[in-house]
Amino acid sequence: SPTLDIAVIAGDGIGPEVIAEARKALKAALVPESASVTFTDYTLGAEHWLSTGETLTDATLEALRGHDAILFGAVGADPRHATIPSGLIERELLLKLRFTLDHSINLRPSRTYPGVATPLAKNEDFDFVVVREGTEGPYVGNGGTIRRDTPEEIATEVSLNTAHGVRRVVVDAFRRAQERRGQLTLVHKNNVLTHAGSLWTRTVTEVAAEFPDVSWDYMHVDAATIHLVTNPQRFDVIVTDNLFGDILTDLAAAITGGIGLAASGSINAEGTAPSMFEPVHGSAPDIAGQGIADPTAAVLSAAMMLEHLGLQTAATRITDAVNAQLSEWAAAGGGEGLTTTQRGDAFADRIASL
Ligand code: NAD
Ligand code: IPM
Ligand code: MN
Repeated sequence: SPTLDIAVIAGDGIGPEVIAEARKALKAALVPESASVTFTDYTLGAEHWLSTGETLTDATLEALRGHDAILFGAVGADPRHATIPSGLIERELLLKLRFTLDHSINLRPSRTYPGVATPLAKNEDFDFVVVREGTEGPYVGNGGTIRRDTPEEIATEVSLNTAHGVRRVVVDAFRRAQERRGQLTLVHKNNVLTHAGSLWTRTVTEVAAEFPDVSWDYMHVDAATIHLVTNPQRFDVIVTDNLFGDILTDLAAAITGGIGLAASGSINAEGTAPSMFEPVHGSAPDIAGQGIADPTAAVLSAAMMLEHLGLQTAATRITDAVNAQLSEWAAAGGGEGLTTTQRGDAFADRIASL
């Protein structure tokens, strides 16, 4: 029977709290498969940097490459960590993992859950996926500052968009659209960002010719925020760059009922390194340590990991259990006041009963 070899980077803040529940769900989902899972913990993040000065060493990166997949919680500094340079852990750990392990496809599905209220006026069901580019755009850190701390200071952030990088994420998005409802929307800002916008638009136009069964349209990112709130049903697959995808997916999470529900996969499309599965949310310093974080996003990220590793039945066991449990809590008034552990245990019990 297969054994999944999973690296776990629980990280900071609520990361370890929600990852503990994702592990329970994974274990429970695999029992009927007669498959098992081993977890190897990697202690990384803000706390680790404070005690060792290390973010992510080459040796750790090499070790991570040997696993089937990585389950990632969240990292980030909080006010107790005043000595950590802003964004250091995010860039030197999380983004370094995505870049070095070539996580070109940042997959972020959003859907309504049975019974769970959304903040939208029209409480209709929707189901779309944002295919966010994961290794390029303004995230490459290709900028600089000159004349720092003078009245003439100039700061630049250059967005990198390669034909290869854009093409592979666009092809991936068209493939997904083909498997879904056959509708793809390119979101960009090609009225202002004309160079990158032109490359993205030309690439989508070219790739579309290979997918005659997929229809596509284009939307500026500002307008996309309107449609996500007023008519999210119009979206099937959204393909977009790294920064627009980051912003749109927090909004997308909010319209499903909360950021604590949003799962994601940072996928290595060529299979040259392990993919990573992580909630969309961060370390949530405002609620960390209170045991009240919603573990649903982490649990659903574990389901995405199982699907990626070819264990579709086990993945469905988790998503079915989450649907049923969220719906039960919604019917009972929303499940307010439940702790992270109570939620995680309820998911695991339901998974075990399926
Ligand atoms: P955040 O996602 O951590 O929190 C935003 C808001 O959502 C907060 O009010 C928080 O309490 C709430 N929230 C988040 N997850 C929740 C959950 N599971 N259940 C209930 N409520 C939840 O974003 P932020 O405050 O902008 O960032 C905090 C830190 O996390 C920063 O250092 C940031 O850089 C980092 N961050 C890390 C990741 C990651 O590791 N993948 C992602 C986003 C932000
Ligand atoms: C996310 C986060 C990260 C991102 C940060 C922490 C670097 O916001 O995963 O959405 O911007 O990609
Ligand atoms: Mn984000």
